[in-house]
Amino acid sequence: MTRREQLSEHLRFFEELGVDGVSRDPGWRRRAAATPDSAGSTPSGDAGEVPGADRATAADTLDAIRSDLGECTRCTLHAGRTTLVFGVGNPAADLVFVGEAPGRDEDLQGIPFVGRAGQLLTKIIASIGLTRDEVYIANVVKCRPPGNRNPAPGEVKTCEPFLFRQLDVIRPKVVVALGAFAIHTLLGTDRAISRLRGRVYEYRGAKLVPTFHPAFLLRSPDRKRDVWEDMKKVRALLEGR
Ligand code: URA
Repeated sequence: MTRREQLSEHLRFFEELGVDGVSRDPGWRRRAAATPDSAGSTPSGDAGEVPGADRATAADTLDAIRSDLGECTRCTLHAGRTTLVFGVGNPAADLVFVGEAPGRDEDLQGIPFVGRAGQLLTKIIASIGLTRDEVYIANVVKCRPPGNRNPAPGEVKTCEPFLFRQLDVIRPKVVVALGAFAIHTLLGTDRAISRLRGRVYEYRGAKLVPTFHPAFLLRSPDRKRDVWEDMKKVRALLEGR
């Protein structure tokens, strides 16, 4: 694809999302690479509370968490995986995206969100002027469930402490939960996504923004506008607005 074609595809996507402006402020990009110390919680008028979410104070690191996971056999998902998908991106990111579990492409490459849904997520990240390297991307569960079924409750219970440790090390300002599964797991509720979206929640010292999963957007492109609304909210939270 030529650069011209790439650019027009990008603009078409922005148009579909209803993007009405892109920040040219160079300070905006610098903020995305802030140090962990700068990631404090910001007040937000419409934040819902999630109880029991204190920040860990231990001097943990992402490398230590990865090494604790090792060649994990804690649940049966290990039997079907090719690669454990830990997470990628900036270890001091202000913004973390959390999906459900690796799919086929992710299982093969060991990197979250690299398939079709992942390519759409990359564009969604770009829509607020950031790159994948500037944010952090992880999943609730680190191994691919057979046939891409939903992870079972026991598998989530076994795996989620590692995600919590990752979040406590990264200390993002904003966590975006992608899709019903991640939203329900992180917020500890099974309320319909339509009722949960559009609000901001307190979560482990960060603001949590629920939005649609990019795989759902591939099937229902008419919901991209909702995601753009959510991403504008994310940008405002990152800017401390
Ligand atoms: N879907 C997810 O939820 N996570 C991935 O990493 C890929 C697809």
